[in-house]
Amino acid sequence: MRTYLVTGGAGFIGSNYIHYMFRKYGDTIRIINVDCLTYAGNLENLKAVEDRDNYVFVKADIRDREAIEKIFGEYDIDRVVHFAAESHVDRSIRNPEVFVETNVLGTLVMLNAAKKAWENPDGSFKENKKFLHVSTDEVYGSLEEGDTYFYETTPLDPHSPYSASKASSDMLVKAYIDTYHFPANITNCSNNYGPYQFPEKLIPLIINNALQGKKLPVYGDGKNVRDWLYVDDHAKAIDMVQEQGRLGERYNIGGHNEKQNIEIIHIILDTLQEMLPKGDPRRELVSEKLITYVEDRKGHDRRYAIAPDKIKEEIGWYPETMFREGIRLTIQWFFEHEEWMKNVTSGDYQKYYAEMYQA
Ligand code: NAD
Ligand code: TYD
Repeated sequence: MRTYLVTGGAGFIGSNYIHYMFRKYGDTIRIINVDCLTYAGNLENLKAVEDRDNYVFVKADIRDREAIEKIFGEYDIDRVVHFAAESHVDRSIRNPEVFVETNVLGTLVMLNAAKKAWENPDGSFKENKKFLHVSTDEVYGSLEEGDTYFYETTPLDPHSPYSASKASSDMLVKAYIDTYHFPANITNCSNNYGPYQFPEKLIPLIINNALQGKKLPVYGDGKNVRDWLYVDDHAKAIDMVQEQGRLGERYNIGGHNEKQNIEIIHIILDTLQEMLPKGDPRRELVSEKLITYVEDRKGHDRRYAIAPDKIKEEIGWYPETMFREGIRLTIQWFFEHEEWMKNVTSGDYQKYYAEMYQA
């Protein structure tokens, strides 16, 4: 039985990945989920799997070397899938330190612990052990409208403290590959959306605000472009890269779905109107009048766009979920999980929201 150590599995993408892997492999794999449960980590995301015999949750911080080494000592780990990170650009602008601590130093702890557990006395590595570092397209910097795409060969040129910390962690993983022939891959993915996404990010924030008739904050002119990918497609890509990718390689993952932020907001409003049943009082609240242009994000990257040619040619992965379908699935999920949204937006979220949006 192959054993996975997943870091950050209680967050948005990590929890979707764990659900995807159990749907795909059932009882033939075991997953150890290591997460310290920051504001973004939520065990409710994993309710459906928590009773499985082949699932273990360990509350630990990836910056805690002893705790991480202990996990490698207790389990014979075959795969590491490293999601754990501070992930929100706006928070990184306000408080960069924790981004360096978790994203850079935490990644170093993960690399060292895996290396220690997997290295043979002669410096080679045990057979069939693999580490996958989950990263972002934001490490490549910003494109202009009409420019080309990000390729795996595009130089790293991060701008925000978040993307700088992710680029640093990518470089550390690359250094381990180049120096020790450490068996790893790096994936750089575009913006994800889907179930369990914390409502500090654009899509769940807009869905949640619109349903309550609250203002929809648009940074700057609303024309910044992101390339959106449904989270299940990302989970599938990670698994395919880890099983079929060439070790030591970087793979870009993207949705071929570039949209301006303002377009995204209009699509969400239209889809909410279509999906809310007649007579539902929220139909009266959902309106374009809620759109409110606010001060731009500092250093706001203009456009991200991935060319996922390498992963398609070498591995056969391509984005399967069209945006209109993915957004319907996401909205349906939020309709069915009102309690989840209530829980995550109580407490600290209110404070964050008030400070961030002066609301
Ligand atoms: P998230 O913020 O929803 O989840 C992060 C998880 O990591 C949380 O469960 C949190 O508790 C955990 N965590 C944070 N610090 C930790 C620490 N020190 N020790 C242990 N656990 C810790 O993030 P996400 O959106 O699911 O992103 C996951 C990964 O994917 C990140 O590495 C991010 O950079 C990358 N990524 C995200 C996107 C996106 O659109 N969200 C796109 C590309 C890449
Ligand atoms: P976000 O979801 O934070 O992802 P990222 O910054 O990592 O791409 O933001 C997506 C885009 O939406 C980005 O251009 C910033 C913009 N945005 C707003 O206009 N208003 C908001 O309230 C938020 C959270 C984001």
